[in-house]
Amino acid sequence: MKKIIAPSILAGDMGRLAAECRRAEETGADILHADVMDGVYVPNISFGFDVIAAMSGSCSLPIDVHMMTVCPQKYIKELKDCGAASVTIHHDIAPEDEVKAALVAIKEAGMRSAIALRPAFPAEDVFPFLPYIDMALVMTVEPGFGGQSFMEDMLPKIAAIREASFDLDIEVDGGINAATGAKCAEAGANVFVAGTSLFRAPDMKEAIKELRKNIK
Ligand code: DX5
Ligand code: ZN
Repeated sequence: MKKIIAPSILAGDMGRLAAECRRAEETGADILHADVMDGVYVPNISFGFDVIAAMSGSCSLPIDVHMMTVCPQKYIKELKDCGAASVTIHHDIAPEDEVKAALVAIKEAGMRSAIALRPAFPAEDVFPFLPYIDMALVMTVEPGFGGQSFMEDMLPKIAAIREASFDLDIEVDGGINAATGAKCAEAGANVFVAGTSLFRAPDMKEAIKELRKNIK
């Protein structure tokens, strides 16, 4: 399965947003991860559609938007308009039927759809959504902040989702570096979000190369 590296712009220098997006592209990223936080679903506030539009306008990488918000289903048109290529929503933001409807709407708008699971939720929670998603995101930290430590006990969850689907993209997010990325790849993940370990590395190109080598 194709391995995809997704630097998280949250760890970039926000004062130089466009240059940071281009830096990710030039140093070998496959896609760019954008964390939208509303201060309600998670205890932090990050950025919104104008920033995502600036990201998509400044490089040619597909933008992978991770909605850590309570009502992502209200903003599907805005997400499409700002240039999101894929939209990930958390499965516990609404009753199952509403979440399914939001996933259908994301796909109807021409974007890829994904479901995210916070660390407390089991692999099985993703199963009802399998017909509606292109990707499952296994959070490997509590969502809300960059720079946290990888949770090893998420590895069996990755393996259980991989067992249920051989062609689903499985993304991991939180504390990912070359060492933890290797463990996730072994468990079955193929999309690797990394903020701190890439944007704050002494040499981003080397860090991406090292991560790519370890997840082969
Ligand atoms: C955390 C975000 C992550 C974050 C990862 O809530 O969803 O995408 O940017 O940052 P690192 O790689 O520093 O853990
Ligand atoms: Zn994220």
